[in-house]
Amino acid sequence: MSRLLPFPIFPAQASTLAPMTDALTLYLLIVSGVMTVLIAGLILYLSIRYRRRPGNEVATQIEGSNRLEVAWTVTPLAFLMVMYAWGANIYFYAYTPPPDALEVWGVGKQWMWKWQHLSGQREINDLHVPVGRPVRVRLTSQDVIHSFYVPAFRVKQDAIPGRYTEVWFEATQAGTFHLFCAEYCGTLHSGMIGSVIAMEPAAFEQWLGGGATVSPAQRGEQLFQDLGCNTCHRDDSLARCPDLAGLFGRTVRLQTGQTLTADAAYIRESILDPGARIVAGYENIMPTFKGQVSEEQVLDLIAYIQALRGGKEPPS
Ligand code: CUA
Repeated sequence: MSRLLPFPIFPAQASTLAPMTDALTLYLLIVSGVMTVLIAGLILYLSIRYRRRPGNEVATQIEGSNRLEVAWTVTPLAFLMVMYAWGANIYFYAYTPPPDALEVWGVGKQWMWKWQHLSGQREINDLHVPVGRPVRVRLTSQDVIHSFYVPAFRVKQDAIPGRYTEVWFEATQAGTFHLFCAEYCGTLHSGMIGSVIAMEPAAFEQWLGGGATVSPAQRGEQLFQDLGCNTCHRDDSLARCPDLAGLFGRTVRLQTGQTLTADAAYIRESILDPGARIVAGYENIMPTFKGQVSEEQVLDLIAYIQALRGGKEPPS
């Protein structure tokens, strides 16, 4: 479609999701276009054809037609159900990250994106990803709501303070693509711009290996000691708080009798608001670390707990 014009209307289709959403968008445009022309055309035609004329001043009343009623109810229903089923199918695809996805963490702040690769690389605004491999981005914000938006990938996801959100994509071609903040977040919102740089897998591995210093899990371990967490969270008889080895992804039983899965959101809450959900058998003695650790440090601590002996290996 864009080849007919001297300038592009649609951004590049650079992810596995892009052709899927574009096909559905095209269907919606065609159905809406045909309906608009049909209705407008009929109004115009019928109002001329059956206008008031001398000798035919009063219209003849025609009482209902079941066949007509059924036809104009069932036909649009069929077209709308196609939209529903097709849209739901794409929705489930877009919101179900494959289990083998490469994980990247992002923190939005006024006015930049801070990226953390789990092997150690950190970057600001620009995000490097491999082509042909699903990438799962875990987002949060340290101030207001931002929104991660890559038009060429057809993905958009809010980054919300106090919460982790996720989005995933798989780049299908190498290149540099616009990354926008799509939620008004203050004076320099329009300047909160970066790039997603999709690289061939070999080049990406090389990039990932260059300059990587300390992994988030290693920084988290240091922080765990600096903050004195290890004086209570330990595996011997002096432990006054739960041992965290193997905690990540495990089912936890709370004082209230409820159970939950210890995921990133629960660990974050336990660091910042420890009294919220106490583990069965323990007392509410942990102080809050709100204000003492940044969102990035919370992510480092999560990475450390995720990597702890007996736990699930952190995705590489
Ligand atoms: Cu961040 Cu708009």
